[in-house]
Amino acid sequence: MRTPKSDKDRVLIFDTTLRDGEQSPGATMTHEEKLEVAELLDEMGVDIIEAGFPIASQGDFEAVHEIAKRTKRAVVCGLSRAGQADIDRAAEAIKPAKRGRIHTFISTSPVHMKWKLQLEPEKVYEMVVASVTRARNYTDDVEWSPEDGTRTEHDFLCRCVEAAINAGATTINIPDTVGYTVPEEYYALFKMVRERVPNSDKARFSVHCHDDLGMAVANSLAGIRAGARQIECAVNGIGERAGNASLEEVVMAMKVRNDALPFSTGIDTSKLMRVSKLVSAVTSFPVQYNKAIVGRNAFAHESGIHQDGMLKHTQTYEIMQPEDVGVKETSLVMGKHSGRHAFVHKLEELGYKLSGNQLEDAFARFKALADRKKHVYDEDIEALVDEEIATAQDRIKLVSLTVIAGTRGPQRATMRLDIEGRFVTEEAEGNGPVDATFNAIKALVPHEAALELFQVHAVTEGTDAQAEVSVRLSESGKTVTAKGADPDTLVESGKTVTAKGADPDTLVAAAKAYLGALNRLMVKRLRTKPEAMVAP
Ligand code: KIV
Ligand code: ZN
Repeated sequence: MRTPKSDKDRVLIFDTTLRDGEQSPGATMTHEEKLEVAELLDEMGVDIIEAGFPIASQGDFEAVHEIAKRTKRAVVCGLSRAGQADIDRAAEAIKPAKRGRIHTFISTSPVHMKWKLQLEPEKVYEMVVASVTRARNYTDDVEWSPEDGTRTEHDFLCRCVEAAINAGATTINIPDTVGYTVPEEYYALFKMVRERVPNSDKARFSVHCHDDLGMAVANSLAGIRAGARQIECAVNGIGERAGNASLEEVVMAMKVRNDALPFSTGIDTSKLMRVSKLVSAVTSFPVQYNKAIVGRNAFAHESGIHQDGMLKHTQTYEIMQPEDVGVKETSLVMGKHSGRHAFVHKLEELGYKLSGNQLEDAFARFKALADRKKHVYDEDIEALVDEEIATAQDRIKLVSLTVIAGTRGPQRATMRLDIEGRFVTEEAEGNGPVDATFNAIKALVPHEAALELFQVHAVTEGTDAQAEVSVRLSESGKTVTAKGADPDTLVESGKTVTAKGADPDTLVAAAKAYLGALNRLMVKRLRTKPEAMVAP
């Protein structure tokens, strides 16, 4: 067994949940949600937070700028392409940071240079030098990435890496942009570049892997074994297409198998579950039940043989302790007699910091829930507070819903909404109660969005359990107005969004989820990114 722990074995964790992660189709976060995620990432010891792509939209710029102002420990990074305007915008966004980084990239693979950039390699080479030089005028922490690095010709890759380091890049990231490589190949690529590039010792190397073939984590760790010392990853593995390497998996792999992977990180792993839940709540992306480390079943033992073994000794079937990643025993929390003090205490224990109106609203909703539900569990509180956080900025809110359902149709829903302070009511019929509910929403907020996903699951056990509904909507280019709203409430489209709603009544949960998705479409409108801007 090898013992790590010298500085040379310290691996930096570069979190790109707010940039590559937010590029996942449907994963929009509001400004406030981004700040909240960034605060937790900082608190749990992430070394670098890639907070966004400042030139992509005003919203991205503002998020990076605000996160730069607030972040206490981590380096705050803004992404930019190679053009001057991109770099200047990224520099402006990270200006307030205690420690700020510009991450500039350009494609270097034959297929990207020919078809995407339509540039000759020599021109790309010149742009590498020019972009890194320009970024260095703003900060001495500059990262350079050859996009589609794993499909780039080796000679050209080495030339560009050498030039980027000479121009002042302090980190060289070699991304597997399309999730194409395999561990042995990625390992060999880093070895080759580090050996062949004469000034390679002047920069830190970084891995950035996508999961198209399910190898992002394995590839990232192979790059680390070959000498890279930074991993770019995202909470819950969210990111373009199949996602990025998952933060919790790379961190726990190095912790649990430190004998085989003798590297250390600065992550407080007891916060992994909390950050996973927060990211799932704000993106409305459910975490798959069997997801490594943070899935609901990651520490559950079902078969009799396993349970028997666990009772005799936990190490029979557990390679890490649930507490190591912040998983707690499901506990019965409080009932309708629990007061505000106990509620705040429970929130703190679950890792939430609410104040002001948000706390008041959450407490009122907890009381209402406790009145309706005999046992209130941690999961109930989490669902309730996550929804409170996710809907705090909503312009369209559900006021009331009455549904007539049963064997004698047609089913009918009467809904009242608060649209930016104006109250509107509508009644609609449908083929079943969910259809009637959604038709009422469509009558009140006419839109062209297509329902792509409607998923229901119970938050806890029992017939009085809260239902959590996920709704995904996708629009393709129309603009609509919510009834009674000002023109600013136009729902502009061309995007996919997902939202969740929780309530003991499945139909109310469904209505909240659908409205949540419409609210997110509005957020998208304010931050529309031209397609060409979006980096992989
Ligand atoms: O996947 C990729 O190539 C990227 C770069 C911007 C680093 O996300
Ligand atoms: Zn990427």
